[in-house]
Amino acid sequence: MATRFWDERFSTDEYIYGENPNDFIRERVHLLDGQDDPRVLDLACGEGRNSVYLAKQGYAVTALDFSSVGIEKTHALASKNSIPVYNLITNGSDSAQELKGCADLDSTFDHGIDLDPEKQKPGSINIVCTDALRWTPSYPYPLVVATFFHLWSDKKPKLFDLYRNLLKPGGRMVTEWFHTRQRIHGYESGGPREAEMLVTADELRAAFSDFEILVCEELERELFEGPKHCGPAYVVRFEAQKPR
Ligand SMILES: C[S@@+](CC[C@H](N)C(=O)[O-])C[C@H]1O[C@@H](n2cnc3c(N)ncnc32)[C@H](O)[C@@H]1O
Repeated sequence: MATRFWDERFSTDEYIYGENPNDFIRERVHLLDGQDDPRVLDLACGEGRNSVYLAKQGYAVTALDFSSVGIEKTHALASKNSIPVYNLITNGSDSAQELKGCADLDSTFDHGIDLDPEKQKPGSINIVCTDALRWTPSYPYPLVVATFFHLWSDKKPKLFDLYRNLLKPGGRMVTEWFHTRQRIHGYESGGPREAEMLVTADELRAAFSDFEILVCEELERELFEGPKHCGPAYVVRFEAQKPR
């Protein structure tokens, strides 16, 4: 899906998915959970609601999205919550070239750089504006979260591989997705128009069959996530650990 689509969608003062974290992230990820390495990647962070929550929980957050408008809103939400933003890194997304300098501590408009884990303090956000499918972090993560990150169906294998590549051995992914029933049964609480872009629990279980599955459930639930994710929805909640 094109960057322009998301830039236009986010081009409003309102936070279209709200300023509060997703419920599943809040339930499953809190207060560092005994992790030695405090880093977490918020993949396709959008306007930054989960990134800000995770920084407040003490994580050293990398917030990644290819929409420069989403990234600017992430930065604004971090500032509003007094969360330091470490870095603003772009990696070749056209939209990212238009970003204004907005780093509080350091500003790097460079290509292909990510932050040395030693250099980022817990409780801060490191912003990366890039296409996730074109990004390889130098330092894989102990924890990757993503909510409602869907791609065209032909990119699904790449999307599933991405989690594998972004995680350290033993790392955990915590994700919430729209289920294909969201479209097929005509729910109107958000999500892509094409059912093939959505997922089922079986599909995720098969894609991550070598992972230890910690949560894998399909359910109808009420979304209260800003004006664009509101009302009854059919979702898949999936948490799994990469083999050590
Ligand atoms: C439905 S929004 C979800 C945003 C956020 N996770 C949330 O739940 O509030 C999907 C996000 O995926 C991002 N996105 C889509 N394709 C991407 C890609 N290839 N690389 C990085 N971000 C992408 C969009 O820019 C958008 O912010």
